[in-house]
Amino acid sequence: MSNSIEDLKAAFAGESQANRRYLAFAKKAADEGYPQIAKLFRAAAAAETVHALNHLRALGEVKDTTENLKVAIGGENYEVVSMYPQFIKDAEVEQDKKALSSFRHAWEVEKVHEALYREALASMSKEPASEDYYVCPVCGYTHLGAINDKCPVCSTLGSRFEKVV
Ligand code: FE2
Ligand code: FE2
Ligand code: FE2
Repeated sequence: MSNSIEDLKAAFAGESQANRRYLAFAKKAADEGYPQIAKLFRAAAAAETVHALNHLRALGEVKDTTENLKVAIGGENYEVVSMYPQFIKDAEVEQDKKALSSFRHAWEVEKVHEALYREALASMSKEPASEDYYVCPVCGYTHLGAINDKCPVCSTLGSRFEKVV
């Protein structure tokens, strides 16, 4: 692999992480009463997204939607069958409750993502439905259509779910 390809991969990972880190910092700044600093974090986060997407495209890793769904299925499946099971074991051994809760939530939701992506791939040639997806703000549970009751993974009220537009 050329240095530039390796550099692009490293830069994509770094910029992606900076984006999520800054969004978390923005929420914290807002909670602490610093709305302008929260805005700065959100602005920088938006810029890091631009950088991350540029790096990913330069890597040639954004293909057509059929290919992208296959990549997404592969990534979710890896997390479901390999990555999170091992991480959950590690957290159990070390009795790290925060890590365990975070991993268990993610593991349950990645199963749903894999299924949703598989359904999407299978029905690409059909008439597209126009329904909204809703995401649990606590565990990330992802659902096609509003949740009337509670989140099946973490019991958060359905009314707190965020609609994805
Ligand atoms: Fe950047
Ligand atoms: Fe996922
Ligand atoms: Fe949840």
